Amino acid sequence: MRDKAFIIAIDGPAASGKGTLARNLAKHYGFHHLDTGLTYRAVAKALIDQGLSLNDEELAAQVAAALDLKGLDRSVLSAHDIGTAASIVAVMPKVRTALVQAQRKFALNLPGNVIDGRDIGTVVCPDAEVKLYITASPEVRAERRFNEMRAKNPDADYNVVLADLKHRDERDMNREASPLKPASDAHLIDTSKMGIEAAFLEAKTLIDAALRN
Ligand code: DC
Repeated sequence: MRDKAFIIAIDGPAASGKGTLARNLAKHYGFHHLDTGLTYRAVAKALIDQGLSLNDEELAAQVAAALDLKGLDRSVLSAHDIGTAASIVAVMPKVRTALVQAQRKFALNLPGNVIDGRDIGTVVCPDAEVKLYITASPEVRAERRFNEMRAKNPDADYNVVLADLKHRDERDMNREASPLKPASDAHLIDTSKMGIEAAFLEAKTLIDAALRN
């Protein structure tokens, strides 16, 4: 029995497939899973629900510090608009400090954790045993998002989804605080032409090797 949690850090842009991969890996290895995007989304939603500004860093940081990671409801927080609002609070250093503290605490859970987001391998868990960076072209990612949205909304427009995704990438990759980028020791997996099963097998090979060490 390990006395230190085994950590699999998964980073990548929106709709890269990292969320599904993270959930599948957590299930396979019997590890806990934290989608850190939900923590930023929960802060944005709490502000919106209370009719408060998304641009007040002090206020957003207070909400972030009070957040309970156990209460994150993906079915509510996954709405597209909440993602856009989340990317506004995610540029704020004080919000990031508060959420990173809670995420690092989560990462101590035994026997291990799969944690996905944008800065897990670089900032939250720089000592993670395995770091994966999942990516795909903007067009492939927009098509995935579009297909998901079209199931609920027949008026969804691919070009709007693509433009929005590129805008979000731009904000995530070029912000000053913890921008999205692969850790120097991350394994890159490009899912543009790869199914989720193939990505899972590639990740599993890397993780199994790390678990043997
Ligand atoms: O992955 P997502 O769409 O749920 O993320 C929502 C927003 O939160 C997105 O703009 C990126 C940001 N985010 C972040 O800055 N750092 C993380 N570790 C996770 C998400």
